[in-house]
Amino acid sequence: MDPTEKAARLVKVLKDEEWKALLAIERVCLSPGPSTAERIASESGMPIERVEFALKMLNSRNLILRSDSSWVINLLAVEALAIREYVKKNYLEALGPVIAKGKESDVYEVYGSKGEVFALKFFKLGRISFRSVRRKRSVKRSEVKNWIATNYDAAKREFTSLKKLEGHPSFPRVYSYNRNTVLMSYLKGVRLSTRPQVEPGAILDSIIDALRFAYSRGVINGDMSEYNILTDGLNVWLIDWPQSVSKSHPNAFELLRRDVSNILRFFKRVYSVERHLDEVLSYIIH
Ligand SMILES: Nc1ncnc2c1ncn2[C@@H]1O[C@H](COP(=O)(O)OP(=O)(O)OP(=O)(O)O)[C@@H](O)[C@H]1O
Ligand SMILES: [Mg+2]
Repeated sequence: MDPTEKAARLVKVLKDEEWKALLAIERVCLSPGPSTAERIASESGMPIERVEFALKMLNSRNLILRSDSSWVINLLAVEALAIREYVKKNYLEALGPVIAKGKESDVYEVYGSKGEVFALKFFKLGRISFRSVRRKRSVKRSEVKNWIATNYDAAKREFTSLKKLEGHPSFPRVYSYNRNTVLMSYLKGVRLSTRPQVEPGAILDSIIDALRFAYSRGVINGDMSEYNILTDGLNVWLIDWPQSVSKSHPNAFELLRRDVSNILRFFKRVYSVERHLDEVLSYIIH
């Protein structure tokens, strides 16, 4: 079973004390010093015997790992904790099929209690192999800590940027973020990189207008290309914003220029539609 599916199942079976211990391990993991059973007990307010029992259960479910004398959470636990939050906040009722699995993230279709369809993006930057680590060597606490920090930060950044872009139809709508995940509207489209049959001039205009809107909100994507644009032939959506920078960033203009030239190059090569880079840039900026 896919680890994310496993995480979604665990949300239904873990006991209160296991959640309590897991949350305490997560907090202790992120603070300096070893995450021993004693510290987990004091952090959770649970008696040590109950913590020891919970640790045994969590370990048998592969939610935590031993690292020297410390306990650390693994990817499965992070995903279970995140999914549980969405369920608690009444956003989610069920996990659907995977939409895309990439190097940096996995995106799933998920369903709300009123039948709403969302996309849930799980960041997996700098994948540390939590599984092979279990067999080969002990996982380093600092490695887990860095992984958590990087991925929780990416989700927060993507949420914050998309929030600034709210109100324009060419961006996914964001609802919430938690840990390494962002919950957004589900977009029914294909990547522009698959070269769908479209009215290229109109689609390019929509993309330029969306970039102009983003710039007016002070946001530059910095990783824009045909791979981060979805379309259904009529609408376009610009996705993937964790690395975006603000207008005041020292490289803002260079990044914007690169974003725009990636798009213009693609439209010229694939659809034989040409635009002048400097003209488009000055349209976006003014
Ligand atoms: N809101 C959404 N609705 C529908 N599909 C989406 C949505 N967001 C992302 N996807 C799908 O997931 C893929 C990856 O998303 P995104 O580009 O945001 O992540 P990424 O970190 O670049 O992932 P990768 O490692 O695959 O490049 C997209 O190409 C698209 O197919
Ligand atoms: Mg992408």
